[in-house]
Amino acid sequence: QELQMNLEQIEKGGYDHFMLKEIYEQPSVIKDTYRGRLHVNNGIIQMAGIEDNLEKFLNAERILIIACGTSWHAGLVAEYIIEEFARISVEVEYASEFRYRNPIITNKDVVIAISQSGETADTLAAIKLAKENGAFVFGVCNVVGSSISRETHAGAYTHAGPEIGVASTKAFTTQITVLTMIALRLAKAKGTMSNTEFHTHLQELELIPEKVTETLALSEVIAKEIAAIYKEVPNCLYLGRGYNFPVALEGALKLKEISYIHAEGYPAAEMKHGPIALIDEKMPVVVIAPKQGHYDKVVSNIQEIKSRSGKIIAVVSKGDTQVKALADHFIEIPETLDAFTPLLTTIPLQLLSYHIAVMRGCNVDQPRNLAKSVTVE
Ligand code: G6P
Repeated sequence: QELQMNLEQIEKGGYDHFMLKEIYEQPSVIKDTYRGRLHVNNGIIQMAGIEDNLEKFLNAERILIIACGTSWHAGLVAEYIIEEFARISVEVEYASEFRYRNPIITNKDVVIAISQSGETADTLAAIKLAKENGAFVFGVCNVVGSSISRETHAGAYTHAGPEIGVASTKAFTTQITVLTMIALRLAKAKGTMSNTEFHTHLQELELIPEKVTETLALSEVIAKEIAAIYKEVPNCLYLGRGYNFPVALEGALKLKEISYIHAEGYPAAEMKHGPIALIDEKMPVVVIAPKQGHYDKVVSNIQEIKSRSGKIIAVVSKGDTQVKALADHFIEIPETLDAFTPLLTTIPLQLLSYHIAVMRGCNVDQPRNLAKSVTVE
């Protein structure tokens, strides 16, 4: 028993939980994921799975992304990035819906299946269906040699290393890293991005790990000044727009999964179509409001919350003044390009859920009723 305990302590590398260790590993695993693929000096992105199948991507009438859970959220971020950079139409579907609805799929489709474990039953079944209908299927998996990595025609691994915590953290940010590189590579091949812009994006992507490190330094402040105050709330709302709409969904999922607080993520502009009815002085609203993107729109969403006495926890860019003046709490993250903000805005939301769950005495690494990989329906 004691030996077992010690072994686990060693595996956690000095952290209290695997989840925290994995959150802190993000700067290094994002780097591991782009290493050997992102060549800033030569101005190229090289991924064998993409190079070998470039024509398939370039001739695709659309890209269909299939995944479950957190991987599905990474797919949503990728939809925005691929459409913006490479101007290829992208659809994102839950694998479980796709496989049972007689979807229209042809040999003109490229399907990207995203899965940390590479074993999710619904995703695997959706891949088989897509293949039967002639689609080219590309996998983005973390586990080498997993079922999904074997079942797909080609793929690109994330290099997150083993993820033990049931709530996915580093798998998510490395999936976004891979999908971003794919988008950039396709943009280059299609000429949908200027050379200058392309180069700026490569340079900035290389800087993401150090900006994640900078963001991780906020952990204590998030624990003391935010988690401690809101740890007993029954509900929480997460809002974001554009690239950060999926981050709002992911932030809410993290909180639900490990702290059992009811949370919902919404595109900020949808608030007026329902969620605004929930806002009162007891409702914390996490608003993702980096300087880029639709900043002014998010500011007006914040004003709407404030006028209904909601509590605002804002994730803002360093140097922000407007949102800071309105928010009850703010978390400042380093600036980056609009499309890369999810890689930074996700971090404080992971930390917020983690600290709240710990304070509530929850089993962070193995939340009730959840499994790390869902290999059955
Ligand atoms: C489970 C896990 C989630 C994960 C989802 C999809 O629900 O608890 O963290 O996002 O499965 O898993 P996959 O391995 O396919 O990414």
